[in-house]
Amino acid sequence: MKPSKTIIKMDSKHAFILLALVLTLAMGARGGDPDILTDFVVPQGANEVNATFFTYTGMRTLIQEQAQPANFTVTKATMAEFPALNGQSVSYAVLQFPVGTVNPPHTHPRASELLLLTYGSLEVGFIDTTSKLYTQTLQAGDIFVFPKGLVHFQYNPSPKDFALAVSAFGSASAGTVSLPVSVFGTGIDDTILAKSFKSDVQTIQKLKAGLTPPPK
Ligand SMILES: *[C@@H]1O[C@H](CO)[C@@H](O)[C@H](O)[C@H]1NC(C)=O
Ligand SMILES: *[C@@H]1O[C@H](CO)[C@@H](O)[C@H](O)[C@H]1NC(C)=O
Repeated sequence: MKPSKTIIKMDSKHAFILLALVLTLAMGARGGDPDILTDFVVPQGANEVNATFFTYTGMRTLIQEQAQPANFTVTKATMAEFPALNGQSVSYAVLQFPVGTVNPPHTHPRASELLLLTYGSLEVGFIDTTSKLYTQTLQAGDIFVFPKGLVHFQYNPSPKDFALAVSAFGSASAGTVSLPVSVFGTGIDDTILAKSFKSDVQTIQKLKAGLTPPPK
C-alpha cells in the first residue's frame, strides 16, 4: 500500500505543477483586449448599424494630400476614432516622418506594434526589460515588430526624403506613453527629477522648458 500512496502523492504534485504551468501559459496568451460575447459591439444609443459603421474614411486625406506635414505626424484609427474596433483587438496608425524627424521614445502599454515601412528609410529600435537595445535600419517594404509595452522609437535619418509607415496594433486602444512628456512634461518636482537623473535642477528645468511651451 505504501508505494502506491507515494505514487499518488507524486502525481498530485505533478498535476499541480502542470496546472500552474497551464494557467501561466493561458494567462500569457490572454494578454490582449478582453473577448466579447457578441460579433461586434454596437455603441449605446444606436439600435442598428450598417456597413458605414465598419468603414473608417479618416485616412483618405493622407492619400489625397500631396504636401507632407512639417513635423512628425501620427494619424490614428483606434477605437476612439473608429468605434467599430471596440472588442476587435486591432487598430492602425499612419506615421509620417519629414526629413530628419523622430518619433521620440514611447511605449504602448496594451499592444505590440507591427510597423510596415511603405516609403523612405527609417531607423527603429526598442529596449527590452534587461535594458538591451535592438536597432535596425529599415528600407521600404520592411516590417518590424515592437514587442508589447517596451520602450521604442523611430527616426528618419534622410536629409532629403520623407518616410511613411503604417503600424498595426494588437489592441483597439493600445495607448501611448511618451517618455519625454511623461517624465518632463507632467509637473514632476524638479528635485525628484534632478536626483533621478543624477543631474541638477537647472538642467531639468531646461529639459522641461523644451516640452511645455510657455503660455502666450
Ligand atoms: C447606414 O447608417 C447611417 C447612420 O448610421 C445612415 O446615415 C445611412 O443612410 C445608412 N445607410 C444605408 C444604406 O442604410
Ligand atoms: C512643428 O514643430 C515646430 C517646432 O516644434 C512648431 O513650432 C510648429 O508649430 C510645428 N508645426 C506644425 C504645423 O505643427
